[in-house]
Amino acid sequence: MTSPHDAADAARTADATGEGATPPATPDNVVHFARTQAVTQADLEIRRLGTSRIDSPMLDLLDARQTTEHYVDEDDRVLLDDTVARVTARGVPLDQLPGLEPCGPRRKIYFDPSKTRVGIVTCGGLCPGLNDVIAGLVRTLTYHYGVRRVVGFRNGYQGFISRYGYGEVDLTPEYVRDIAVDGGTVLGTSRGHQDPEEIVDCLERMHINILFVIGGDGSMRGAMGIERVIAERNLKIAVVGVPKTIDNDIPYIDQSFGFQTAFSRASDAIRAVTVEAKSTANGIGLVKLMGRHSGFIACYAALARSDADVVLIPEVPFALEGDTGLLAHLRRRVEQRGHAVVVVAEGAGQELLEAAQAARTDASGNRRLGDVGRFLRDRIEDHFHEVGIETSVRYIDPSYAIRSVPANPYDSVYTVRLSQAAVHAAMSGRTAMVVGRVRRRFVHIPMPLAVSKRNQVDPHGDLWQAVLESTGQPVRFGP
Ligand code: F6P
Repeated sequence: MTSPHDAADAARTADATGEGATPPATPDNVVHFARTQAVTQADLEIRRLGTSRIDSPMLDLLDARQTTEHYVDEDDRVLLDDTVARVTARGVPLDQLPGLEPCGPRRKIYFDPSKTRVGIVTCGGLCPGLNDVIAGLVRTLTYHYGVRRVVGFRNGYQGFISRYGYGEVDLTPEYVRDIAVDGGTVLGTSRGHQDPEEIVDCLERMHINILFVIGGDGSMRGAMGIERVIAERNLKIAVVGVPKTIDNDIPYIDQSFGFQTAFSRASDAIRAVTVEAKSTANGIGLVKLMGRHSGFIACYAALARSDADVVLIPEVPFALEGDTGLLAHLRRRVEQRGHAVVVVAEGAGQELLEAAQAARTDASGNRRLGDVGRFLRDRIEDHFHEVGIETSVRYIDPSYAIRSVPANPYDSVYTVRLSQAAVHAAMSGRTAMVVGRVRRRFVHIPMPLAVSKRNQVDPHGDLWQAVLESTGQPVRFGP
């Protein structure tokens, strides 16, 4: 007998190309999001490989489920807009408001677990929690669904390319049992583009049905390329992402995993320079933190301690010179308090650094930044020397020390739940999507949407206001 859930399932996929399939994401979607920023329901639809016909192993538990405060039923949606003003501005009936698919196990699944082969790859820079995600994926696939073969590809997308000769790892619950004790990723990682045709050749050769990509925006663009080739070849391989970045710059989601761990480590560095600065006459502490385009780590780490006198982030330009500039402000702070502490995100003040003009890029295509930490240290020392105040600048760049550590308990829990959500999505035949948490609800986000823009600190928003209140720094340095 057809249940209401089966009917809804079929209805969602009815007008798609092929049996129960929905069309692949195109680069046009990406341009569309970037240009308009006006997300509609069509942009939130999740692509499906086909109709799910197999009963979930959890069917008994799921049948009684319905939307509650703590759970969103699979036929319900999580609203994208969360204020009265935003909902009103849509000007559409309530049932036409754009909504995201909730994560979670489906009553019907697409892949037969006994015949399903799964691949996992970690790409890009390290982030606390990568091993927790790998372990969570393996455990859910094995214990929950009974999948028997999970393969780990080594060193990012290079792991699919035979000329690198890295081989694969068989991932079993025994193999992953203790991996989360360490930071990093047991699979290794790399940056940079690899040919999606070659990657899909490898997936075909190895009879992989589901590929999990744990990576940042560059890796998700890579995953979209892989998914496009899969669709062109008319293969039934699901590609599901678990987005990763300690910079917390993924749009739409509340926070990226590993971010909490990273900023709490960063706050230890702030404490250290504060103690140093306080221990010398006119001491100045300076900490440079990661955050290429988004200053979340700097803001949160500074808020976690009330030690910082100034926080500098890429989103808010600043001037050094003049009475309203940073240097004069620091001088006044030192005169009033006997010391001062500056927290700077690595992407801040790039316009002040001539070296940055060279616009070099790394393997992921990211612009290489000038070193704002050393630059500020030198300028602060020179300035205090010029005005005749003896000072010592204590400079710390904790750099990789904040992201190479294991996840803290909060991030471990978060990663486990994300990895479970990713498995449920993939087993139900969803593809070209990532999992994320939006206002407490775990949801499916189409990959084009997840890479459509960057999450940044809003200079007019609550977080930056909280930082200004905590540091007492002016709204802007300079005229
Ligand atoms: O993108 C995340 C990040 O941690 C950035 O903050 C930082 O600039 C970058 O990675 C550095 O990573 P790598 O040295 O591995 O290129």
